[in-house]
Amino acid sequence: MSRSHRWSLWVALLLILTLLLAACAQPATPAPAKKLEIFSWWTAGGEAEGLEAMFTVYRQKYPGVEIINAAVAGGAGAQAKAVLKTRMLGGDPPDSFQVHGGAELIDTWVKTGYMEDLTDLWKSEGWMDKFPKQLIDLVSYEGKIYSVPVNVHRGNVLWYNKKIFDQYGLQPPTTFDEFFQVAEALKAKGVTPLALGDKLKWEAAHLFETVLAGVLGAEKYRGLWTGQTPWTGPEVAQAFEIFGRMLDYVNEDHAAHTWDSATQLVLDGKAAMTIMGDWSHGYFLSKGAKPGVDYGWVPAPNNKGLFMVVTDTFGLPKKAPHREQAIAWLKVCGSKEGQEAFNPKKGSICARLDCDRSKFDVYLQSSMDDFARDQLIPSEVHGSAAPEGFATAFNDIIFNFVTSRDAKAAMEALQKACVENKMCK
Ligand code: GAL
Repeated sequence: MSRSHRWSLWVALLLILTLLLAACAQPATPAPAKKLEIFSWWTAGGEAEGLEAMFTVYRQKYPGVEIINAAVAGGAGAQAKAVLKTRMLGGDPPDSFQVHGGAELIDTWVKTGYMEDLTDLWKSEGWMDKFPKQLIDLVSYEGKIYSVPVNVHRGNVLWYNKKIFDQYGLQPPTTFDEFFQVAEALKAKGVTPLALGDKLKWEAAHLFETVLAGVLGAEKYRGLWTGQTPWTGPEVAQAFEIFGRMLDYVNEDHAAHTWDSATQLVLDGKAAMTIMGDWSHGYFLSKGAKPGVDYGWVPAPNNKGLFMVVTDTFGLPKKAPHREQAIAWLKVCGSKEGQEAFNPKKGSICARLDCDRSKFDVYLQSSMDDFARDQLIPSEVHGSAAPEGFATAFNDIIFNFVTSRDAKAAMEALQKACVENKMCK
């Protein structure tokens, strides 16, 4: 072998060695990224912060998981639910999603076979005696448990701007009569009495549902969802009459507002009151307002002693892409730590019974007391009382009433929807 040949051989060998070494130095194929995709409609002030607080607990407990926040704005309306439905039916579920306990969970997703049974998780996490039985029942079907409640919101609350009420020497109204007296007094002073933002339809239905409860009382109100109370009877007619009169006191641009911007009107003193669930409390807090100083609260008119329950829960869809991370998420949702981080910001009380009361502000402590002592009634607009088909019809019918003011047509349409959805005969 000539000298130059030997030289080339050495070079070739060196090259091979370098390549081999480089190959060994390559990092091992990266492990598949751990992800967790959570779907909700929590994008407004308060609710977004609450969700983030629960993400923070998750990150501490399960570092290294990328959380994808797939929230879609729209509150309890059809918008976010339509996005979820497209994904679920298209075989592209998120890892876990916000769903109300009751019909929204059971009729829409459980009976149709889309959810995993979580009973074993409930048992292994020791949750069975940590939640009120009513809440467990709301997320159960045929003896199996299908989701994890994170909170209890109260739907039937009247929020008012304290400075306006103090300025005009007004007391927050507790009955319908008082409501109309106060509304007249405010109107005479040039103040918009009631803020409404029904851009997404459900907000008007929400107001109407509190009027129904106020007129009918717990038993007859419950009967609306079981066919015991007819939609065409005198009490519902009275509810429409009162609702119509209330609408005479709302901001003219209500169709351009949503629940959160309507709450902002109260905070800004552009309206004196709003009737909304206590996610408005979360909203006020997120804007730095002080409960009992900047704003006050009372049950919606004639709703004293009635607690309209709205419970947000998270479940596990079959074929969740990151099942292991989703189960870890559900563990956070059901934990004391997760709920204590989430609820004070969200404006709700824990679904668990053992949360530390001192972590909750003056409004939420009053809500805890009311929850323990009041009659609990379900919310239809927020998914518990009636199946989805009825809920959609209800929102449309009430939204149409806001402009048509045709109570007879609305009552007949409600009765028809009740029959069509097999709630009434
Ligand atoms: C409700 C939900 C609350 C709150 C509200 C407005 O349906 O239960 O958590 O988010 O919508 O978005």
